[in-house]
Amino acid sequence: MIGKLNHVAIAVPDAEAAGKIYRDTLGAKITAKVAQPDHGVWTVFVELPNTKIELIEPLGDNSPIAAFLAKNPKGGMHHVCYEVEDINAACAQMKKMGATITGTGEPRIGAHGKPVVFMHPKDFSGTLIELEQV
Ligand code: CO
Repeated sequence: MIGKLNHVAIAVPDAEAAGKIYRDTLGAKITAKVAQPDHGVWTVFVELPNTKIELIEPLGDNSPIAAFLAKNPKGGMHHVCYEVEDINAACAQMKKMGATITGTGEPRIGAHGKPVVFMHPKDFSGTLIELEQV
């Protein structure tokens, strides 16, 4: 069901500083820092030949990554995102298998303007999983 790895998201206290490390130390191509107010994060993308790394910094008072950063003040891997062709079919399959979809359990529009769901880490080896319809 899942296809390509779309991105790995790393929660960081300062996305711009984190991006500069990727650029200056690892020679990676990075994007400018962009506010994603609907998602409560700032993003900087590290663009790799086969995927991207999404550096996410909390934005606003109710950022969904605030608790994660409180536990991991220096930052850490937050989620991995796999591509799916049909998000509704993916949701139906996940529910049938007893996996827990976070939030309302229904797809919503993600940070890249495409429908996404997040699967609870308890069902996936301690890793938060994002499924994105491409
Ligand atoms: Co993501």
